[in-house]
Amino acid sequence: MTLQIRPFDLADTEPVVSLWQETGLTRPWNNPYQDISRKLRVQPELFLVAVDGTTLVGTVMAGYDGHRGWLYYLASSPARRGEGIGRRLVERAEELLIDMGCPKVQLMVRTENVEVHDFYASLGFEPFETWNTGKRLIAD
Ligand SMILES: CC(C)(COP(=O)(O)OP(=O)(O)OC[C@H]1O[C@@H](n2cnc3c(N)ncnc32)[C@H](O)[C@@H]1OP(=O)(O)O)[C@@H](O)C(=O)NCCC(=O)NCCS
Repeated sequence: MTLQIRPFDLADTEPVVSLWQETGLTRPWNNPYQDISRKLRVQPELFLVAVDGTTLVGTVMAGYDGHRGWLYYLASSPARRGEGIGRRLVERAEELLIDMGCPKVQLMVRTENVEVHDFYASLGFEPFETWNTGKRLIAD
């Protein structure tokens, strides 16, 4: 496998949205095209894709808010699971966050997505209890 991790390019848009749909990461209240467009205006260098040749096989969208680093939209192609694509994406995002001085990275996992718990544990992530809350400011 000649896996390359690189920043997202506009030409990746359709394969990225397809991968998010295929891996169950899209939700009716999140327009993936809007999410991409917003990310391209804020720390676009932290929006990474994994490509094997010309084939897109993974994504991760990271951000640093000055206090914590966050990961979103981590996905690898269902046909390519267990090859280390998810790990490589997270490790590269961590490197970029460390370069920015970010002391801790964290992420939210949807309650029903228990399958990924062991994946994150194998990457050194430790669970912690919070009550999450949010408020939509712009309807898509
Ligand atoms: C989570 C996800 C990105 C993992 O991708 P992947 O490319 O299969 O992961 P890797 O091959 O890099 O695995 C890294 C490690 O986690 C382990 N791992 C991966 N999936 C696992 C699972 N379901 N259960 C237990 N361990 C798992 C691997 O064995 C590997 O361990 P190792 O490095 O010690 O050998 C992928 O399952 C996915 O896209 N899921 C759907 C989308 C999703 O839920 N994203 C997360 C949203 S919070």
